[in-house]
Order: sequence, then C-alpha cells, then structure tokens
Amino acid sequence: MITKVKKIDAESLAEAKEIILSGGVVAFPTETVYGLGASAFDDGAVKSIFDIKGRPNDNPLIAHVYDGYDLSRIVDADPPYAAALRRAFLPGPLTLVYPSRGKVSPRVSCGLDTLAVRVPSHPGAQAFLRAVGIPVVAPSANLSKHVSPTSAKHVLDDFDGKIPLILDGGECSGGIESTVCDVTGEYPVVLRPGLVTREMIAKAAGRCEASAETVRPGERAKSPGMMYKHYSPRCRTMLFPVGDRAGAEAAYEREKAAGSRAFLLGEEKLAKAWNARGMSAFSLGNTPGEMAARLYGLLREAERRADVLIAVEPAGDGGVMTGVKNRLKKACASEDIPH
Ligand code: TXA
Ligand code: MG
Repeated sequence: MITKVKKIDAESLAEAKEIILSGGVVAFPTETVYGLGASAFDDGAVKSIFDIKGRPNDNPLIAHVYDGYDLSRIVDADPPYAAALRRAFLPGPLTLVYPSRGKVSPRVSCGLDTLAVRVPSHPGAQAFLRAVGIPVVAPSANLSKHVSPTSAKHVLDDFDGKIPLILDGGECSGGIESTVCDVTGEYPVVLRPGLVTREMIAKAAGRCEASAETVRPGERAKSPGMMYKHYSPRCRTMLFPVGDRAGAEAAYEREKAAGSRAFLLGEEKLAKAWNARGMSAFSLGNTPGEMAARLYGLLREAERRADVLIAVEPAGDGGVMTGVKNRLKKACASEDIPH
C-alpha cells in the first residue's frame, strides 16, 4: 500500500471521508498529537486500529467528534459539571469519559461501560471530523509503546505502507496527549494528566481529584493505557531526579568513555551549560508548555542520534508540569509494565 501525505483541503478531506466511511484508516492532526482514525461504528475498522498499532486489546480508544456534535447520540449520562467543563475547555485538549453502553462498536471501550470523547481544537481535525460526520476513534498515530507523533513525518516513520492517507496539518502545538478525565462519578477525576490541568478542572467544576498513577497488583486500571510503558524512544534511556545533575553528568562521562553516543536532556539552562562544556545535550525549553511541545520531537531525534539518552527531570510540580513529568517518566522508565 502506498501511504499518501496530503495537505488538508477539499480534495484530501473528500478522500479521507471516503476511506473512513468504507472502513479504512486515516491519520489526522490534532492540537496534541496526530491520531490514527477509524469509524467508531465499524467493528472491523476499530479492530484494524489495534492491529496496525500492535495495541493491547484491553486499552480503550477515544472517540473524536466535531464541535457541536450531539453527544446524547453516544453517551448515556452527562452530569452538570461535565457541561461546565465542556464550556470551559472544549474544543481543546481534554477528553471526558462518560457512562455509555452499546452506542458505538463494543471494541472501542474494550468491554468497559464508558466511552472517552474528545473534541479537538485543531482546525484540520475539526474539518476532518465535520467532513466525516460520525465519531472517529483515534489513538495516537504511533506504533504501540513508541513515542507519540507530533508531525506528519513522525506518522509516516511508523506507518509508511500500512495506511492509505495521512492528513498533514503541520506540527502539533500542544505536544502531549489530551488530559483524560472521568466524569462518571460525583466529581471529575483526572486519569491522565495533560495541558488542561487538574487545577483548571477543579476551578471550573468546583472539585477535581487525580487518580493514582500506579495500579496495585490485581487491581484493574481505570484508564488501562496508563499501565504500560509508553512513549519510549528506541535507544537506552536513563532518568535522573531534579537536582541530580551530577549523577547524570557522571553517567554521560561513563557512557562516552565506553564508546556510546550519549546525549543529555534537560531544561534550557542545563542544556546550555552542558553544550558550553562541549557535551551533547537537548534542551527541553524553559516553560512547561514549551517542554510539552518539544518533548516527543526530541525523543524521536534522540533515537536517531543517540545510543543512550540521559535525562534530568525539570524542576517544578503541578499544572502542565505534572503532564510533562508523567510522559518523561514513562518514556525513560527502564522496566516494562506495570509501573
Ligand atoms: O490527545 C489525545 O488524546 C490523542 C489524540 C489523537 O486525540 N489520542 C490519544 O489516544 O492519546 P491514546 O489511545 O493514545 O490514549 C487514550 C487514553 C488511554 O490512556 C486509554 O486508556 C484512555 O485514554 N481511555 C480511553 N477510553 C477510556 C475509557 N472508556 N475509560 C478510561 N480510560 C480510557
Ligand atoms: Mg497513545
């Protein structure tokens, strides 16, 4: 199969619609990361998403809809605080998990009686979802466990020859996946941190909790995707805590001495200091927003150029930094599930 990469215009949107409505798969941009889309109503199409990605079949998918789509067609209950969250943050990088049974293909939610719904703000995503007219399930458009894609080129690197069409909407401005927030209970619970922060949700809804990131043995994760090692570059990785710059530098020297192509990764001022001393280093940037936008592109660059990536956690906590650190930990964790 030839994979076409096309700018978003009337012709490519018509082609995308035709592919989705006939059970095929199209990659499209969002403001967070690129998605690999298929009709939420088509069992075979949903299954092919899992197959193409190599995704575990207990990790449910998010249904994407255009702004103004009638939610009551796919969800069973909608608490008032969820409406407040939609007014405050949608379209945007927030996914809400609603009670829902039997409205879309049973494969979408992997047997859970909930459905995750997202209204992306990227104009290209909106144009695509409007053209298609039905909910489109879309995981991030990367091979399972690989780094999420923030450009059409990243998608092509993972799926060349495996999907017919990539809609190219440029670089994603957000850079980390949407916040996933459960709205099935009395108050919202963040299952995956992102650019819409727990603090922002608490302000809009009156209260918001965050689910624990680790799952005890025998427990089922509320958001099953969070159990897996994720977002990993294909090189060795190490992660040093904030403040252990010396540990990272010692590891770098050891790796260099052993003949490895080693790269450091840290916030701007650290990276500048390393570069000034002749060390190879990637800069995450200064602000949490910059770090989110750059992280995945840097992880993909690291796997092309490095044998080992040695990261130092940025300083600061809460807000967008919670999402940045969550992804950095998952990318650079050394062992596989669960963690
Ligand atoms: O920004 C994003 O959300 C991107 C773009 C393409 O929209 N999509 C994305 O999808 O990150 P994916 O499949 O890579 O991650 C979906 C996350 C997983 O952690 C999954 O477990 C969780 O959402 N999820 C999906 N449906 C759920 C449900 N019914 N209940 C709880 N968690 C759910
Ligand atoms: Mg993903």
